[in-house]
Amino acid sequence: MKRASLILDKDYEIGKVDPRIYGSFIEHLGRAVYGGIYEPGHKSADELGFREDVLELVKELDVPIIRYPGGNFVSAFNWEDSVGPRDQRPKRLDLAWYTTETNEVGMHEFSDWLTKANSSMMYAINLGTRGVDDARNVVEYANHLEGSYYSDLRIKNGAKDPFGIKVWCLGNEMDGEWQMGHKTARDYGALAREAAKVMKRVDPSIEVVACGSSSLEMPTFGGWEYTMLMECYEQIDYVSLHRYYANYEDDTPAFLARSMDLDEFIKSVTAICDAVGAVKRSKKKLGLSFDEWNVWYHSRQQDKEIWKQDKWNRALPLLEDVYNFEDALLVGSMLITFIRNADRVKIACLAQLVNVIAPIMTRNGGGVWRQTIYWPLLHASRFGRGISLQPIVESPVYNCWDYENVPFIDAAAVLTEQEDVVIFCVNKSMDQHIALNCEFRDFGTLTVEQHIELHHDDVKATNTEAHPDEVTPMDADKGKFVDDTLEVLLRPLSWNVLRLTKKNKRNIEIKPLSTI
Ligand code: AHR
Repeated sequence: MKRASLILDKDYEIGKVDPRIYGSFIEHLGRAVYGGIYEPGHKSADELGFREDVLELVKELDVPIIRYPGGNFVSAFNWEDSVGPRDQRPKRLDLAWYTTETNEVGMHEFSDWLTKANSSMMYAINLGTRGVDDARNVVEYANHLEGSYYSDLRIKNGAKDPFGIKVWCLGNEMDGEWQMGHKTARDYGALAREAAKVMKRVDPSIEVVACGSSSLEMPTFGGWEYTMLMECYEQIDYVSLHRYYANYEDDTPAFLARSMDLDEFIKSVTAICDAVGAVKRSKKKLGLSFDEWNVWYHSRQQDKEIWKQDKWNRALPLLEDVYNFEDALLVGSMLITFIRNADRVKIACLAQLVNVIAPIMTRNGGGVWRQTIYWPLLHASRFGRGISLQPIVESPVYNCWDYENVPFIDAAAVLTEQEDVVIFCVNKSMDQHIALNCEFRDFGTLTVEQHIELHHDDVKATNTEAHPDEVTPMDADKGKFVDDTLEVLLRPLSWNVLRLTKKNKRNIEIKPLSTI
């Protein structure tokens, strides 16, 4: 059997985990809104038409922030279309996804839904086809108390209290030539600076996210960030990163190694931000907003077929990836990577939340179920809040086509406010159990309250409406302590959550897994 070790010291802090790293994303795309969170006439629909069965799963995930309304959609979106009397809202062609947007759900309805979901809005503005003027107007509409044209219009439209949107995205993927209103780095940086300036004059309490590269593969990556930040560094708060992974080669070890690429991406963007800060002699440090991340590839061919047959319909079933067990392992490793970079990654939105590359799936008129990737997000969001601790891991390694020395054990650790310790850990070995020795320094005497394990013998196993629990977490062996060292066995290909508390404290709420 292989062995690995992990040392945790209470004083080795990476930083506070910003709960917003457990955020998500809902775009007006496919069946995310229409047929996802919203389906009037469905048996679980509330008085506004929102599905309560879907809402329950969203609440269970406890996502503190949700990016909205796009994505690519936002780059030709007129926010005014989505407010005011619903029967007078225009239907528009959505040129990003070849759909007709009916605007039945807009800023007010989504805000009402967010209140029910215990979440908050991260609003993306259109910096593709629109500009500075619209940027200030939408902030005035959403956040100004009263007594101005747009704030009074909001009140007339039924929302006496401002929406109080704290985080604003300055456009979406503006480096991509597919983006409507795509710009050069310098032009975008200047526009982001001026938009941020007027938006913050309307509401100085807001934070803004400037678009970084839409992926690491963009030929402009790096140069885009540097040039854009030279224009707007002092006016913005975060740089966005987007990252989606695929397993077209059907190579599980290589696929699971993509978390190394994610870590490098984070380190590279951090370095560029700090380089610009140094050039500008600025004391300010920018945060990173991973405002789109996930596995995305299963549905790409299917989407091409849909568009061949059916353009311009409402709510086409687009980007409906059916996630398998190995996808859940990589999503777990990506969450681990965010926790380990808690000093810089302040926001992360799993893209997306319902039906569209999502942890939650629905059938129109039918049920709702949890995809495999739901589970690591749930565990991280529920148990991964507190201080991220630096785990010192010694693990056997493997090689794959683009990475050497990939540790089989990928781990992050959090010290919660209640002083409980939570370790998240993926064993990437295809066939080997790994005995993990965890040494705890300066925590007092700990005991393992729970070891949650997600495993399936078939990496391609999925959850479906008929078999919603095919891939589902189980309680696993808690291992045993010898002095301050815990030895616990991690199954090959498994996502693990070890929840430890001070001996005799017993303050961790342990619910049966079926209820979390
Ligand atoms: O999340 C799906 C799409 O992926 C978003 O609209 C876009 O920003 C990204 O390319």
